Amino acid sequence: MSEIIRTNQLTLSYGNHIIIKELNIAIPKGEITVLIGGNGCGKSTLLRSMARLLKPVGGSVLLEGKAIDKLSTKSVAKKLSILPQSPNAPEGLTVLQLVKQGRYPYQNWLNQWSKEDEQKVNSALEATGMNDLKDKLVDELSGGQRQRAWIAMTLAQDTDTILLDEPTTYLDMTHQIEILDLLYELNQMEQRTIVMVLHDLNLACRYAHHIIAIQNNTVCAQGKPEDIIDSELVKQVFAMECQIIADPIFGTPLCVPYGKGRYITSLNDSKGYSHKNAHIN
Ligand SMILES: Nc1ncnc2c1ncn2[C@@H]1O[C@H](COP(=O)(O)OP(=O)(O)OP(=O)(O)O)[C@@H](O)[C@H]1O
Ligand SMILES: [Mg+2]
Repeated sequence: MSEIIRTNQLTLSYGNHIIIKELNIAIPKGEITVLIGGNGCGKSTLLRSMARLLKPVGGSVLLEGKAIDKLSTKSVAKKLSILPQSPNAPEGLTVLQLVKQGRYPYQNWLNQWSKEDEQKVNSALEATGMNDLKDKLVDELSGGQRQRAWIAMTLAQDTDTILLDEPTTYLDMTHQIEILDLLYELNQMEQRTIVMVLHDLNLACRYAHHIIAIQNNTVCAQGKPEDIIDSELVKQVFAMECQIIADPIFGTPLCVPYGKGRYITSLNDSKGYSHKNAHIN
């Protein structure tokens, strides 16, 4: 397994508040890696440092073996794109203008807007279902539409490595699956490396080849979802009791949280539910 990004004793902080401490992880090339962990554990901070948006206070990030802070902004931007959590667009920008920004690493005074730029922008709009909304102002979109516009911008950048911080936030269920399927396809068909933060553990287990669980400033487990996800790990990372079962369709780990809610003892078989209720007994 080769790696595309490695962190070496990486330490990240805001002021003197240390968020990530002496972290050593490797992101496998051509795979989908998902970062999981509770709110505030440092997932976004780590992702931003992998894209050179945050300078480490100790250690380093290597992109294809080279220290990322020694590379020029444009050369990083041709290799790696990032969709941050809650990005902000300048006021008055249309979707098309936003998505075109994804092509900035390829522009200079010699290389003006090209056919290839046009084609990448169009296919990103198409893939995210944003074609019909391309002339709307980003400020006037719904939360989910705006999120898809930003994903389109990230895809237009056309990089081998794509980092996404909670790409499914604000999306309805259909669009969540559509976006994750799209990223999965980019991975399978074009061997793109995807690194994303997801809060939905079940979707993380379904799409990720590799999961990295963050807790207490560092990694508390990493590996294939089926090798690492169990109720003990969920308890440790999310302080939550749950039962892990196999997803009835994909076979991947499926987390059923305990807690409160309605119990029903007999299910309407005509709906075709399959129901193994170990918790009730
Ligand atoms: N710009 C900032 N300045 C100061 N502290 C920050 C800043 N951004 C984040 N933090 C703090 O750093 C810690 C980690 O934040 P981070 O955004 O990386 O968490 P996260 O794991 O992405 O959380 P979430 O799941 O809520 O998105 C938090 O305690 C947060 O309050
Ligand atoms: Mg975050």
